Amino acid sequence: MSDSTPSSRVQAATVKAVLESVNPTPGAPKPDPIFVGDDITRSFGGLVAVNVEHVEVQRGSITALIGPNGAGKTTFFNVITGFDPPNTGVWSFQGSSLAGTPAYKVAREGMVRTFQLTKVLNKLTVLENMRLGAQGQTGEGLFKALIPGLWRKQEQEITERALGMLDQFNLIHLKDEFAGALSGGQRKLLEMARAMMSNPTMLMLDEPMAGVNPALTQSLLEHIKELRESGITIFFVEHDMDMVRDISDWVIVMAQGSIIAEGPPNVVMRNTAVIDAYLGAHHDVALTESGESLTQPSVPLTQSEES
Ligand SMILES: Nc1ncnc2c1ncn2[C@@H]1O[C@H](COP(=O)(O)OP(=O)(O)O)[C@@H](O)[C@H]1O
Ligand SMILES: [Mg+2]
Repeated sequence: MSDSTPSSRVQAATVKAVLESVNPTPGAPKPDPIFVGDDITRSFGGLVAVNVEHVEVQRGSITALIGPNGAGKTTFFNVITGFDPPNTGVWSFQGSSLAGTPAYKVAREGMVRTFQLTKVLNKLTVLENMRLGAQGQTGEGLFKALIPGLWRKQEQEITERALGMLDQFNLIHLKDEFAGALSGGQRKLLEMARAMMSNPTMLMLDEPMAGVNPALTQSLLEHIKELRESGITIFFVEHDMDMVRDISDWVIVMAQGSIIAEGPPNVVMRNTAVIDAYLGAHHDVALTESGESLTQPSVPLTQSEES
């Protein structure tokens, strides 16, 4: 990717160590934040779905956003990516203010997201879905449209990049299938691969593991780690605590719209406020290391996905 400079790779390798030095408190400042948000609120009628005072995401990190159902995670993602207007708030990505910026421009700035319920287009083929992912980047200007040679060359480049990406995500054998014929997990992979077509600097994933067949989860995890190694920042919402523990450099916990805890995964998952937030919501996710439960011995390690 364009961001895949040697320095970003070094950073990916050391990001965990860098974050060890960050005080694990809500709103903690990061040494090199790629995203900074302040006073972001979103209400629906009388319900305050999001009320985030301050949040920073470290560049090059895999940062997880966790919290019970209804905590406001998806709404927060919607707001900062321009899909939903906030009541208040300012936020910036790589130093540029993005508050009030429409979703397509947010994506052009390099903040690209996937959705909790996939939005792949079922009646298009896998390859066609991928090619759409490159939209907004090239080709649509009138000037370029007037030069067919240039246009055709770009179309060809997009196809080649799409095929390469499909290969990387183990979907190449499905390139001519309708997206609607894929399994839930394959659709998740396709959505992630399609998001990559727009060359994100920060990839935001909303429950990438939801509905994914356990046979595919390991490769999904590997893909996400590889993306981080190539210099991409990953900011993801996830229920699967095994995944969060496995791949996150940093975990941010939301409950009732606010950030209630932050820290490295092993620290956050022992935090009593976090455990209370989950158990208070009767959320059947264990927050402790495998086996040894700090809460209830009968709590399963992962939550089966309801959506
Ligand atoms: N469009 C909406 N209209 C009304 N209420 C909403 C809307 N979207 C979300 N909410 C409410 O906001 C709260 C946060 O929802 P959401 O962001 O989806 O939580 P999470 O993703 O953490 O499960 C929930 O109480 C939800 O019912
Ligand atoms: Mg959600």
